Amino acid sequence: MAQQEKPQAPQHIGIIMDGNGRWAKKRMLPRSAGHVQGAKTLRTIAEYARDRGVKYLTVYAFSTENWSRPKEEVDSLMDLLRKYLRDMLKEPTNHVNTRFIGDKTAFSPEIRELIDKVENLIDPEAKMVLQVALNYGGRDELVKSVRRIAQRVQQGQLSWDAIDEQTISEELYTASVPDPDLIIRPSGEYRTSNFLLWQSAYSEYVFMDGLLWPDFKPSDLDAAIEEYAGRNRRFGGI
Ligand code: FPP
Repeated sequence: MAQQEKPQAPQHIGIIMDGNGRWAKKRMLPRSAGHVQGAKTLRTIAEYARDRGVKYLTVYAFSTENWSRPKEEVDSLMDLLRKYLRDMLKEPTNHVNTRFIGDKTAFSPEIRELIDKVENLIDPEAKMVLQVALNYGGRDELVKSVRRIAQRVQQGQLSWDAIDEQTISEELYTASVPDPDLIIRPSGEYRTSNFLLWQSAYSEYVFMDGLLWPDFKPSDLDAAIEEYAGRNRRFGGI
């Protein structure tokens, strides 16, 4: 399909990068090999999303629940994260600013320092913001924001009856970022898995069966955008 025939991409796309483990298993490789390939796919898809005019891409890389995986897998994910951050510093993705959402306090000082450095690589000409969700959970995010709001009420900075949806949105990691229009989940699971719970109230979901994240291609992003473009978003109206 020629570029000009493609529908306009939505402003904000979220992706649940699922299926790395199954991709590796199919090849009789360790699960970590699936994550390594998944990180490569992330880079390719981020560049392609930027070129398609996506303004915000949010990817789910590590959830608050992923710590419960076997130590060996968590360690390999941390090694991969360190490598990914170092690679981003050496060779940042052109015209993409990267930020990390989630509770960063759980990471080692070294990883936190690398995260800070990557977040500080601001390109004033950036065309897209890539948000990488790390130690992220939608419920955890809401709990933290409710605590901060309660604190403001307790300190007399905010009246309880002035709390509205905007008060909550502004306390989330994604404050200032528009809600996702489209959330894509490959791999055949039909769940939100605690991803952008508040923000996804009116997001369109595209679940892609039979496709594992490491195999996800630019043409798969095109297909998801095509399906999204055919949806009728009513936001509760008729
Ligand atoms: C879900 O697949 C994927 C993850 C828990 C990790 C996602 C991580 C990457 C794509 C690596 C790149 C990101 C960074 C920043 C390091 P799964 O392991 O649950 O797969 P399965 O459901 O097939 O077992």
